[in-house]
Amino acid sequence: MFDEKYRPVHTACINPEKFPQVALYMQSGTNLVLYKPADRPITRADLQRLHNNQVEHLYINAGSIREVCDFLEESISEILASDEISGPVKGQLLSQVAMNYVMDVFEMPDKLSNLDRCRNLVRQLMQYIAGNPNPLEALHAVVNHDFYTFAHSVHVASLSLLVHAEVFGLTADELEDVGIGGILHDVGMIFVPSAILEKTDILTNFEYNLIKKHAERGYECLRELGGFSEISLAAVRYHHERINGEGYPFQLAGDEIPRTAQVTAICDVFSALTSNRPYKKAMGRSEAITLMEGVGKDVFSPRLLEKFKDVILSEGS
Ligand SMILES: [Fe+2]
Repeated sequence: MFDEKYRPVHTACINPEKFPQVALYMQSGTNLVLYKPADRPITRADLQRLHNNQVEHLYINAGSIREVCDFLEESISEILASDEISGPVKGQLLSQVAMNYVMDVFEMPDKLSNLDRCRNLVRQLMQYIAGNPNPLEALHAVVNHDFYTFAHSVHVASLSLLVHAEVFGLTADELEDVGIGGILHDVGMIFVPSAILEKTDILTNFEYNLIKKHAERGYECLRELGGFSEISLAAVRYHHERINGEGYPFQLAGDEIPRTAQVTAICDVFSALTSNRPYKKAMGRSEAITLMEGVGKDVFSPRLLEKFKDVILSEGS
């Protein structure tokens, strides 16, 4: 509705004692007007008035998003436990916080060494998924193409967690490792020159080969940092392998590809097909699965694709 310069913030997650000092805007008809400047703190009385007037969202400048996301990440347990915030809004906030984490590690890879931060976010995602009848709808973040990579990473992690939780009897620790692998599956993209990632023309073979290195480079980077499990590492290293042996980097075939990586591959393609991109409209879930069952019948395990379909299509919405 408004241009990309503003982002909504749910008023229920504004805590006057801790919320960062940023300018807040309010909707007035089809416009946004300044509600409070950055140097005036928001008070409990303000929030009560907003609540009485049934104002659910205020808006921030897009430039304040990182500061606000850092605050949300610190408060995410309280937000998820709050009775005042609805399930879908919690999902959107969680998705935003997880995206902020991925943005951080893409921009500052040294932040990858804080594995606890990633583990905590995956734990929150798992709890959210377990406690909500339609978690994917809220976790399929509003994909705006600037943030596609980050939103896609969170979407893949959510899909993979949901499928692993429903289909395989994994321990909580193993599920966390699956989620970490999902969130970081494309982390090797930080080694691909941005001129190639941003290129809109057809890629040369040389450029395409550089992109294809992201799986192995991501794996090497996480392995060198240490602390990542075999499950997480496998998702990162092998998510472009295909069961017909035509994937990369090693052309593994069939069950030579670890199961987590096979599931991550299915989630990766499904997420790409069901997201809006500048050059194509998102497909519906059933349409994407039908395509994957047809064109993709040699590239995905039919057994896993069947299980994926059962889980995804049985989720309401
Ligand atoms: Fe990838």
